[in-house]
Amino acid sequence: MTRMTEGTNPGRDIMLDLLKGQRGEWVSGQILAGRLDMTRAAIWKRIGLLKEQGYGIDASPRKGYRLRDIPDRLLASEIRDGLKTCVIGQRDIHHFERTDSTNKRAKEIAAAGAGEGALVVAEEQTRGRGRLDRHWFSPAGQGIYLSVVLRPALPPSEAARLVLLAAVAVAETLIDTAGLKATIKWPNDVLVGGKKIAGILTELAMEMDAVDYVIIGLGLNVNMPADQWPEDIRGRATSVLAETGQPFSRPLLLRHLLESFENGYEELTNAGFEPIMARWRDLADMLGRKVSVQARGGSYSGEVVDFDPDGFMILRDNNGRDRRILSGDVTIL
Ligand code: BTN
Repeated sequence: MTRMTEGTNPGRDIMLDLLKGQRGEWVSGQILAGRLDMTRAAIWKRIGLLKEQGYGIDASPRKGYRLRDIPDRLLASEIRDGLKTCVIGQRDIHHFERTDSTNKRAKEIAAAGAGEGALVVAEEQTRGRGRLDRHWFSPAGQGIYLSVVLRPALPPSEAARLVLLAAVAVAETLIDTAGLKATIKWPNDVLVGGKKIAGILTELAMEMDAVDYVIIGLGLNVNMPADQWPEDIRGRATSVLAETGQPFSRPLLLRHLLESFENGYEELTNAGFEPIMARWRDLADMLGRKVSVQARGGSYSGEVVDFDPDGFMILRDNNGRDRRILSGDVTIL
């Protein structure tokens, strides 16, 4: 069963903006009612809704209302606060307290006509999915579980570029905001210190020969404590908290991520894919490495000689023969 705590909510919450503008200070009910052209009873009701969402607000019959705490939650109001994008996150944001998989929800809204840039975010996923039908660990309030709807003007053969772009956006966000030395492991894992901190799951829908929509599903481990990983991923997974020793604001990381992704998405349209591919190659740090790859068609080993813009790894085997591989599990030898 899923429960949505906040529906699509474009535009700003003016009352919240007013309270945030005077955070820690009292704002009278009369002032709020005047500014918002609402009755004091209606203001009181809206304050109740904000409290339900986790905002710490004091109320006093004489002094009015005072915003104490802003919750570390992926609410539309927090994602949009200071978000410098034009499209992504500026339209629909569907926030779930708990859902099975944000990718599943995003596919539903995309099939129902959601426009480019619509977001689905969850505080918790009960059946978070990874590549190769694996499970994605999605505990409540600790990670970013996000799916973005895109409607790119790209041929289906170039849709894999969006995954590479998403991996660059995640790695650069971790470098810029948390000072982590993030790297990319082909095809779309983001690692810190050799452990996985984020993963991307893309799903594509086509109509005739064109892309109808692409869902970019992204899981980022933010505030998972180092000693609480499930057994199957212990030693292989990490989080921003585990790496820095500090809890991080999830809305802040998410905003940075959306901005970085949108800049790259624009760049892809205006300047082509090569500049992003160059950043991807730098972050991947895999050229020249000897690897073995478990792919759908079999297992291969050799030297990584290149990655092409369609997301294929070019692997040179011991006989000097090159093979293009689209996806698989890589082990660095
Ligand atoms: C992987 O590395 O295997 C990809 C993991 C992708 C996980 C994210 S979390 C948000 C979105 N919803 C899902 O069910 N999966 C993706």
